Order: sequence, then structure tokens, then C-alpha cells
Amino acid sequence: MDQTGASRIVTVITGASAGIGADLARVFAQKGHDLALVARDANKLADLADELGQVGRQRPLIIPLDLSQHGAADELLAKLAAAGARADILVNNAGYGLLGKAADLDRKAQVGMIDLNIRALTDLTLAFLPMLRAAKGRLLNVASTAAFAPGPGFAIYYATKAYVLSFSEALSHELRSEVSVTALCPGPTATEFQGRAGFEKSPNMNKLPMMTSKAVAQIGYDATMAGKRVAIAGFSNQAMAIGMRLSPHSLLLPILSKIQGTAH
Ligand SMILES: NC(=O)c1ccc[n+]([C@@H]2O[C@H](COP(=O)([O-])OP(=O)(O)OC[C@H]3O[C@@H](n4cnc5c(N)ncnc54)[C@H](OP(=O)(O)O)[C@@H]3O)[C@@H](O)[C@H]2O)c1
Repeated sequence: MDQTGASRIVTVITGASAGIGADLARVFAQKGHDLALVARDANKLADLADELGQVGRQRPLIIPLDLSQHGAADELLAKLAAAGARADILVNNAGYGLLGKAADLDRKAQVGMIDLNIRALTDLTLAFLPMLRAAKGRLLNVASTAAFAPGPGFAIYYATKAYVLSFSEALSHELRSEVSVTALCPGPTATEFQGRAGFEKSPNMNKLPMMTSKAVAQIGYDATMAGKRVAIAGFSNQAMAIGMRLSPHSLLLPILSKIQGTAH
């Protein structure tokens, strides 16, 4: 037990029930971190906790929560405290996208994307900062290569990730001697993301070359522990991000619209 009364010091990973978050949990566990896993699907979290209990130091805590709900960050803090745990690392990974024109997609689902990708990520960051500061800890925010340009056909998702990258970079400077802040920017990665986003509506999106979530998670872990400000996953995604940063939007908008256009 430490001076705050906590007996467990954990890495909190949101969106740990699938994809990149589940593989981040596997890497953190292999490296000996004690974990708290957060997502909505309690059964998937329990299965992963059972798996990681074999390789990590302890069976991870599981905290089923819908992070898009107001008050979720306070609820998470309260549940950690009730379990006698505090965080030294926070991984804000939970997020989703919706492919299609903003005017055509469901309004509630699109605002829900902002609730999860932006509002919950921000509230969790601010809620955990006192703990992370006290621990001289680390924060990993999962952005995307979508952060580097406006994305017609995926407009709100791209905008949410531009926010995540901008917020994380500024925070990394504000907190530079106290908390290390990393933004991870994966490109297309084979997970449940594509199904939830509706990639089957597009003739192109499922044809994009995809990295594995295992490779992306390893890059995210290494960058976090090295205290890197931004990590773009993979060489071709790094080249694409630089291209997106340097190209005029008048050129990028029709190209991205063509790639991300949906057939119906
Ligand atoms: N896959 C890609 O191509 C790609 C590329 C760039 C960036 N990213 C980013 O990487 C992150 C992880 O995505 P992924 O590809 O691993 O997708 P995924 O396989 O769909 O996993 C998303 C995770 O977020 C959780 N989640 C979704 N809504 C939630 C909510 N309301 N409350 C709590 N948890 C919630 C899901 O769990 P439950 O359903 O159990 O809640 C799941 O664990 C996201 O931020 C995504 O934007 C993905």
C-alpha cells in the first residue's frame, strides 16, 4: 500500500475489449504492468482478464462502462478507488468512426462519436491528471493518421482525431517535466473498427492495406515508454501523414472524397 492508500498501481486502458486496445493490454501485461480494462462489453473484458492473468503479474481489474455517458470519468475514478487502485498510466483508446457523408449519417450517432472520441477522452485526461502528475506518469491518446487532413466521406471522425492530436501535442508541452504525453496515429488497422464504421458501403475502404493491431500496439507501447510526443504507426503511414501535411487541401479533398466515397 502506498501513501495514498492504494494497494494497486495500474495502467488504465479504455476500449480494451477489442482491437488495438486489447493488444495494448497484452503488450502492457507482458511488460509487467498491472492493468484496469475498460469498455462496455463485460464478457469480453473478463475473457481478456483471464488470458492476461496467466502472463501478467495479476489478473487485471475489469471496469465495464459506457464512456460516452456524462459522468463516466468520475465513475471510473470511483471504481478504481473502491478497488484500492490508482493509475500511473492512462491509455485513452476507445473510439469509433462512421463512414459516409455527414448530412446522410444518423445525427445522434455522429454526435455520439464526438462524445466518445473527444469529450470522454478530454474528461478522462483531466480527471486522471492529478494522479498521473503525482506518479510522474504517462498518458497515451490514440489519434489516427486521419488527424492530418480534413476527410470528406469520414468528416466528423477525421475532425475528432485532429482534436485528439492537437490536444495531446499541446498537453505534452504543458506537462513536459511532469507527465509524458504521447499521441499514437495508426493508419488503417484490421480490427472491429471497419465493421462499426460501415466500410462495407465503400468500394475502396476494405481494399486499403492494413496493419495488425498487434504491431500497432507494440509501436504505441514503445513510443509511450520512450516519452515520444507523436508516433505514426508504420513507414507507409508516416509517408502518407507527411504527404497529407504538405499537400494543399484543394488537392487532398477530392482525393480523400474519392477513396472514402460510399456506393450507397
Ligand atoms: N482500426 C483502424 O483502422 C484505426 C485507425 C486509426 C485509429 N484508430 C483508433 O484506434 C482506437 C481503437 O480502435 P480499434 O480499431 O481497436 O476499434 P475496435 O476494434 O472497434 O475497438 C474499439 C474499442 O472501443 C470500445 N468502445 C467503443 N465504444 C465505447 C464506449 N461508448 N464506451 C467504452 N468503450 C467503448 C469498444 O468496446 P465495447 O464495444 O465493448 O464498448 C472496443 O474495445 C480508436 O480510437 C480508433 O479511432 C483505429
